[in-house]
Amino acid sequence: MSASSIFAPNLLANQVAIVTGGGSGIGAGIAELLAAHGAKVGLVGRTLEKLEATAMKIRERGGVATCRAVDVRKYDDLSQATESVTHEFGGLHILVNSAAGNFLAPAAGLSANGFRTVIDIDLCGTFNASRAAFAHLSKQGGNIVNITATQATVATPLQCHAGAAKAGIEKLTRDLALEWAGSKIRVNAVAPGPIEGTEGMTRLAPGGAGDHLKKRVPLNRYGNIDEIASSVLFLVSPAGSYITGSTLLIDGGTSLIGPGPFLDMMLGEI
Ligand code: NAP
Ligand code: COA
Repeated sequence: MSASSIFAPNLLANQVAIVTGGGSGIGAGIAELLAAHGAKVGLVGRTLEKLEATAMKIRERGGVATCRAVDVRKYDDLSQATESVTHEFGGLHILVNSAAGNFLAPAAGLSANGFRTVIDIDLCGTFNASRAAFAHLSKQGGNIVNITATQATVATPLQCHAGAAKAGIEKLTRDLALEWAGSKIRVNAVAPGPIEGTEGMTRLAPGGAGDHLKKRVPLNRYGNIDEIASSVLFLVSPAGSYITGSTLLIDGGTSLIGPGPFLDMMLGEI
């Protein structure tokens, strides 16, 4: 990648991206930004209506998008969807793994199936999509970006399932970065902090917990979806061409001060 390509007007022209979880929230924002910079985007999630809504927004701005209603836990379905997006758009260059499931639950009350379900969607889903994409990405090289969370590194009560899954994804990120560097595939992760207007925030910081959390963010505000999407754009663009195996923490400094309101929630203080 020559340094001069950083100055190209359409950073992702002629590239094809697949975004899991692209039907809503952060995944949708990432898909919209990649498309705005010229990538043709394949949106993957379980609910076709949500995917179509994101695709419509992309098309209204002149972008190109296609949808595949697939559960990332089902490898064969995901592999088939990857194959068909690649066939429709003539290649694959970028995979963003944003699909995830989460809820607040104390470990002592969480069922084995509840724990397994989150590991299966987040960690196994990320492996499944990466494995399905490898043959296509390795044809010319490409990028994988995994969306993790600060729970991967900060001990966080009520979040052992999601924390373990995201920590696993960050380790997978480094291992795949090493194994696939020879195939010119860069593998990185982005770890968001609290992002306003998302399902994640609705689930994890309900009611008063949200206000409490906002006060604890060193930058004194929530992040927004565009701030996560632009970090993904940076990593997959020529601007990030020497970065692989990294996790970019985008949390307004939240992780610098520990588990914050989750601890207060556990102690019954909010
Ligand atoms: P979201 O809107 O619920 O996004 C998750 C997406 O994943 C949904 O579109 C969902 O669509 C899809 N999905 C869930 N299970 C799936 C499955 N089994 N197969 C395929 N798709 C599936 O939530 P979000 O808050 O934007 O979160 C997006 C990502 O950011 C997640 O990885 C999350 O962990 C991470 N994150 C969020 C925050 C935050 O503040 N929001 C903070 C840190 C990290 P369907 O239900 O239709 O399948
Ligand atoms: N607290 C404790 N356990 C819970 C729970 C909660 N709030 N929600 C679900 N579970 C448990 C269920 O009880 C079940 O375990 P069981 O069989 O022992 O009873 C297990 O998790 C699976 O639940 P199910 O509803 O069958 O899973 P699903 O595959 O249909 O859905 C979820 C997965 C649970 C993660 C669901 O919330 C989801 O689809 N989330 C996607 C969106 C999302 O979470 N966005 C935020 C991203 S940060």
